[in-house]
Amino acid sequence: MLTVALCKGKLIEPTLELFVKAGYTAAKPATDSRRLVFPCPEIGMTFLIVRPADVPTYVEYGAADIGIVGKDVLLEQDSDVYEPLDLGFGACRIAVAALQGEASRDRLSSKIRVATKYPKITERYFNQHGVPVEIIKLYGSIELAPIVGLADRIVDLVETGNTLKAHGLIEVGCIAQSTARLIVNRASLKLKHQAVSELVKKLRAACARPQWPRKIVPLKSSRGNGAGGRKRRTPA
Ligand code: PRP
Repeated sequence: MLTVALCKGKLIEPTLELFVKAGYTAAKPATDSRRLVFPCPEIGMTFLIVRPADVPTYVEYGAADIGIVGKDVLLEQDSDVYEPLDLGFGACRIAVAALQGEASRDRLSSKIRVATKYPKITERYFNQHGVPVEIIKLYGSIELAPIVGLADRIVDLVETGNTLKAHGLIEVGCIAQSTARLIVNRASLKLKHQAVSELVKKLRAACARPQWPRKIVPLKSSRGNGAGGRKRRTPA
């Protein structure tokens, strides 16, 4: 039996889709319920639903054998876990952003104040650039900080860039790219080797298989107007 820690939030749906694609069709924890533990004996797994920042802790301490979590969280936490697989989805970047018009000012005061959920990543980045910073740890809605004068910069995840734009912020630096990763407890890798390697193998194969269909492109009708015409499926 494997215990798998899944994180609440944006990654959970694509994670479950990947498990189904890998053949674990019974992997269906009800993501809208308050339950946190979902035994799925049909596939030899129990799923735990935890906060993203807690996934590495569950796996490092062996409360879960396997976890699925963003690289952003792993970079922040430096946990002692094995990371065998980049799952590819959940792509985003850890970026530095500033209010439009303030972006070119390198030194706003002796120390730049940076609001973030990622204090370690932020400190490392600004240290490497020789910029003194005061880090303000927040737990969400980071974009608010520069608007109300709490910080000069933010370090946060950017996916589409829409949230930055909506708050009059622009990206001024990219620290790292992030995607969802499979992580494994080091002891489980040895003690449950067969079950773990089978899961890793199946998930790797499912990741490699192209999504089909990726997008639907309208066929142009003979009258030259694609609207309302039949649709054909094409790979991306
Ligand atoms: C994340 C991140 C940004 C947003 C970026 O927030 O912190 O706010 O997504 O996405 P975008 O570039 O596509 O607009 P999340 O929804 O995880 O909530 P949070 O404010 O609690 O971090």
